[in-house]
Order: sequence, then structure tokens, then C-alpha cells
Amino acid sequence: MAKTKTRWICQQCGFTSMRSLGRCTDCGGWGTLVEEITHEDDGSKKGFAARVSQLNTGTRPESDNKALPLSEIDTNESGRISTGLEGLDEILGGGLVPGAVILIAGDPGIGKSTLLMQVAKNLAKTVRVLYITGEESAAQVRLRAERLKVTSDNVLVAAEQNVVNAADMLYTNDVQVAVVDSIQAVYHPEISSAAGSVSQVREGTQLLIHAAKAKNIATILVGHVTKDGTIAGPRVLEHMVDVVLQFEGDRTRQLRVLRAIKNRFGSTTELALFAMAESGLAEVDNPSALFLGDRLAKVGLKQAASGTAVIAGGEGSRSLLLEVQALTISTGNPNVRRVVNGWDYNRLLQLLAVLEKRIGLSLSRLDVYVNMVGGLEFEDPAGDMGIAFAVATSFLDRSIDPGLVAVGEVGLTGEIRPVHNLGQRLKEAQRLGFNKAIVPKVNLPLQNPPAKMEIIGVETLAEALSAAIPGLNLGPKPKTNLESKSEATANSKLDNKAQGAQEKVRQ
Ligand code: TYD
Ligand code: MG
Repeated sequence: MAKTKTRWICQQCGFTSMRSLGRCTDCGGWGTLVEEITHEDDGSKKGFAARVSQLNTGTRPESDNKALPLSEIDTNESGRISTGLEGLDEILGGGLVPGAVILIAGDPGIGKSTLLMQVAKNLAKTVRVLYITGEESAAQVRLRAERLKVTSDNVLVAAEQNVVNAADMLYTNDVQVAVVDSIQAVYHPEISSAAGSVSQVREGTQLLIHAAKAKNIATILVGHVTKDGTIAGPRVLEHMVDVVLQFEGDRTRQLRVLRAIKNRFGSTTELALFAMAESGLAEVDNPSALFLGDRLAKVGLKQAASGTAVIAGGEGSRSLLLEVQALTISTGNPNVRRVVNGWDYNRLLQLLAVLEKRIGLSLSRLDVYVNMVGGLEFEDPAGDMGIAFAVATSFLDRSIDPGLVAVGEVGLTGEIRPVHNLGQRLKEAQRLGFNKAIVPKVNLPLQNPPAKMEIIGVETLAEALSAAIPGLNLGPKPKTNLESKSEATANSKLDNKAQGAQEKVRQ
């Protein structure tokens, strides 16, 4: 029998110590030693050390593992199990793959347990589900299940914190799907560090992965996110599991976003939106309408408020329209503030630099606030142009056509760079009633453009701003697909007010 004991191993250099050390004596790294279980070799013929020594002497070591032609390898693909939530199935690439281990990570209280109990309810119609809880008592789980109207006896619940027992349950219960809620709440009895530490989380996950693969059980692990947003402990789980899903949103709002950040069985571009209600999470069918709110009512009006613009994100097979708001304001403070919600801070700084250097907006003495309405974290660089519009219109105290949507990445020279999925983004915009789009010229012509939309292709941010802000002229006018003579003459005449604004810009 292999004997188990633990060692402390430096995660940077591999130095091994029998006891915990604050600093690695080999590489000098602080806090890099992590407790790991070492499975001592029993020295038998099949033992690892024996096989290595055979290899070293040139003899063939025995191994049961065989290489197979690709066509003979079972993919498990046909056995995918639907979770009953269309959005979640889409993210997973078509449902749960038997034997796959999925980590679902999110802030405490965001709704992970709720989501998984709902998934268990749907799954119970066809398969047996084991729900292992380390955080709550079985009674608490039952209360939640009652709230969510889970009645099926195909959902087995166990309160267990010992991960060895939990893994054993996967072997002994005849189930097709298992949930472990959460991986930070379970502990391995042979590891001395506290539950939730890197060693505990890693060894526990390893045991559960072995059990899941051996019994072909699709296993969902719940993971809490640490304060700085990483899945505890420092991303150790991400490379061990097959799929990593991130569940995010604002606890004070109803909206939740589920997205894949790693998926061995599908793409990572899909996202699903849920709203938390009294009776659990419900999928949101028309997320853009939800995000745009009363902005949609303004489409067709003459002008939107200054400092606002609409951007079209292209996440996976769906596009999402979001309103972005910006406020620029002079400050008495020598240190200006840049505050951004829902968008990358460094991207904003870069965009402000481009607006200052390439367009001539003197933003360096101003506080700049940028907010994605709806509380969604948005990462698509195609939002650059819309954010530039919002900042520029706030600065100039002008506004853009409320029916206009902006799509395009802004480069450091002020050029507008291409985006992916443009056609799809514009179709979604047209569906919601938007009638004008400013897009990267390099993306044109579109194969299948939305019929009723005026599409303006631009090469630079200056062109884009001139096309968006009536009367502002920062360079040659771009041509639109629907450009008529009357529009052309109207555009060529700059009204006096616009001249003033332009001079202000050029100062
Ligand atoms: P929970 O799933 O326990 O969060 P997590 O497992 O991620 O920590 O639930 C989060 C919140 O959702 C909780 O504060 C109560 C709320 N909630 C509802 O609004 N409706 C419901 O039907 C349920 C079950 C929970
Ligand atoms: Mg929970």
C-alpha cells in the first residue's frame, strides 16, 4: 500500500521541505511553499520508481495505457446532458459532458447555489443528481429546494465536509451529475492547512476529478472568488478542471451574467444572462432592451443627452447593446480622477490619451467618469468608439443622434480598427430600432447588411466624431451607404455654433 504524507513544495522552484516555511530557502520566494500530499512509492514492480528505473536501464516498463487512433477515441459528445437552461447549455457547448469537471466561480451570495439547485431540478427529470454541500446543512438545502419547487427524489443531498468521503459518494451513489458546494468548504483530513487554502483546494479537487473521471459523472464544483477577483487559491483550480464558468453581477441588482473563461468542450465566447427573482433565476430573453431601458424610448427623438452613446458588444452568438455614459468635469484638485465602472481602466486611459493627442480635446486637467449602464462588466474593445463619443460629447456639451450605435476599436494613432461579428451586432441594433451605425471602414462592405440602417464606415476617430456629432468637422466627411444629395449639401454647411465648438476643440 502506498503511504500518504505531506510535504511543503515551493511553487516557484520546486524546492521540497518537510515543514512549513515562510520563505523558500532555495529561491528566496516569500510564501511560495504549499503543502502537498506525496504518495510514497511502495517499490513494487508497477510502482512509479520501479518503472522509471526500468526505463533508465533500457527495459520496457509495463503500462496499461494504450495509444489509439483518433477515430477510436470515445468523445462522450453524444452523451451530453441538457441542463434545462438554454443559456447554460450554450455556454457549455451543448450541455454537460459526462465525466467533465466544471468549476463555477463567483462572489458569495451571487446565486451559485440557487443556479445549481435549479439545474439539479431540471436534470432530475432524466438523470440522478448528487448535491454535496459543505457550507450548509442538508436541511438548509432542502429549504432552498422547496423555495425553488424541487420535489424529485432523483436529487440526492448530502452534507459533507470531508472531501475523501465526498469523493467516495461519487463512487458509491449511482448518479450521472454531482455538485460539490463549495470546494473551499471541504477539507482533506491528511492536510494540516485550513479548508480553502491552496493545498486543500488542490488536493480536494484532484480527488473529485479522479472520482468524476472514473465514474463518468459530470461534476460541478462551486468556487468562491477572492477579494481581488481570482478564484481561490491563486488560479490553481483553473488548469485542473475542464470548464471554468464565471458567475458575476451586482448583488444589489437582479441581473447576473454567466460566462465561460475556459472550456475544453466548446468556445468561451458565449454568455448567458439571468435575473434573480423570488422563485430563483430566470433567463433574460431580451437583454439589450433591459440594459438600454429608457434609452430605447429616446430613439427617434432629436438628440440624446450629452455624454451618452450606445455600443454594440458581440459576445458569442448574441450581441448586446449597452449605453455608456461619461462625464468630464474640471477639478480644483491637482490629481485628476479617472473613474470607470464596467470597463477596463487602462483602456480608458489609452482612449483619453488618443482623444487628447489625436483629436485635441484637453482632457488632462479634467476628472473623467465613465459608466456602463446596467452594471455589466464589458471587455470588448469594439466599445472604444462609443466611449470616445460619450467622453467627447460630454466635453463639448454636444449630443449625438439617439438612434446611432457606435462599433469600433480605437488604435493609438486614432485609427478605427476592425471588429468581429459586425453584421450580427448591427442586426441586433436594427431589431431594437437603431437606424444609424458608425463602424470601421475596413469591415465594409458587409455581406448581408441590415436593410434599413444607415451605415457609415470610418477610418479614423476624427472621421467618426465628425460623422456622429452634427456640425462638427474634424476632417474629410466619410460617405454613408444611403447618402443622398440633400444630406450631402446639409453636411457641407457648418452652422456657426458648430464652428465655435470646432475652434474650442482645436485650441
Ligand atoms: P445563493 O444561491 O445562496 O448564493 P451563493 O451560493 O452564490 O452564495 O443565493 C444568493 C441570494 O439569492 C440570496 O441572498 C437570496 C437570493 N435568492 C432569491 O432572490 N430568490 C431565490 O429563489 C433564492 C433561492 C435565493
Ligand atoms: Mg452557496
